[in-house]
Amino acid sequence: MSVITCVEDLRRLYQRYTPRMFYDYVESGSWSESTFHANQADFANLKLRQRVLVDMTNRSLAGRMIDQDVAMPVALAPTGLTGLQRADGEILAARAAESFGVPFTLSTMSICSIEEVAAATSKPFWFQLYVMRDRDFIERLIGRAKDAGCSALMLTLDLQILGQRHKDLKNGLGVPPKPTLANIVNLATKVRWGIDMLGATRRNFGNLVGHIEGLDGDSASLQRWSAEQLDPTLDWNDVDWVKRLWGGKLILKGIMDPEDARRAADCGADALVVSNHGGRQLDGAPSSIAALPAIVEAVGDRIEVWMDGGIRSGQDVIKALALGAKGTLIGRAFLYGLGALGEAGVVKALELIRNELDLTMAFCGLRDVRDVDERILWRAP
Ligand SMILES: Cc1cc2nc3c(=O)[nH]c(=O)nc-3n(C[C@H](O)[C@H](O)[C@H](O)COP(=O)(O)O)c2cc1C
Repeated sequence: MSVITCVEDLRRLYQRYTPRMFYDYVESGSWSESTFHANQADFANLKLRQRVLVDMTNRSLAGRMIDQDVAMPVALAPTGLTGLQRADGEILAARAAESFGVPFTLSTMSICSIEEVAAATSKPFWFQLYVMRDRDFIERLIGRAKDAGCSALMLTLDLQILGQRHKDLKNGLGVPPKPTLANIVNLATKVRWGIDMLGATRRNFGNLVGHIEGLDGDSASLQRWSAEQLDPTLDWNDVDWVKRLWGGKLILKGIMDPEDARRAADCGADALVVSNHGGRQLDGAPSSIAALPAIVEAVGDRIEVWMDGGIRSGQDVIKALALGAKGTLIGRAFLYGLGALGEAGVVKALELIRNELDLTMAFCGLRDVRDVDERILWRAP
């Protein structure tokens, strides 16, 4: 592909280079995938108001997310197994975010560990936490995030149990993977990916292996451990427990209901993310952008409201801001860039989104992203 002009170009390149089982892991939602698709479709249904003859010079996209300066109100979302999309993928994405000036969030289920990402970067990143049954391990994990200088903890609330993705089951996706014959054949055609992976620092869960007794990185012990560790008993008392242990900025991710949003504000968290996990958990839930306005209304200024799900362009970002989000996260959009072109691909995805956001804001008659509100949305007469 000669010129990359949009995130969709990055997705196509990513698909070309990446083994099917890892591509499918990213490009899928749970069950019928209706929520996964609605996340993007509902953005497309929102229309913008075109304004003219407004001074468009000196535009600014800079803002703040939980008191942290950001080049634009977009952070990289936590994504598991990122180091299998590209060797040391978490490090590459963290470096790209750092050079661009937006936050990077490391998943609990990353390949590179907290310590490895910290050693390879120079600015603090955010750490995403799944609370598991082994609370001693979680306590140690929070301690490791503190020691690594992480500047916020993002607690994910919507994965007490696991949604089913048909493709992952059919592909035999696990860590390490147990691919089907068809996938082994497919793997053999992805030479660039294979050569890249030969140089990977590691190919298992860096935050887990070596930190849990009996977990030695072999497939059987990892699968047993992961299956046992999701905790369906998680409740708001656990959120308080995490908040006390962490003691720093806390972001609650995976809120889709105004009542839950009010609880999040009551518990004193700094931000919440309106998110359905990119359509990977409750299939049949509304899109995140559809759920956003009621949540903004429910909590007002008591907590920063962000959103993720379906963002593939700067136009999507501005629509989220127009409906009251103070910040956004991107998942797949940066993964496409990473799989396509490594660190440079993540920077490319961010640049594309920044340019689209900047021009769209100007077309809507604004010069500062902090002035975006619902007046930029077109309402049918
Ligand atoms: C491949 C993949 C892995 C993910 N892993 C995690 C994870 O480990 N922790 C988490 O909180 N969310 C995870 N998510 C959800 C993202 O953080 C985010 O909510 C979602 O990707 C946003 O939707 P988008 O991909 O359409 O931008 C994952 C999403 C994808 C696509």
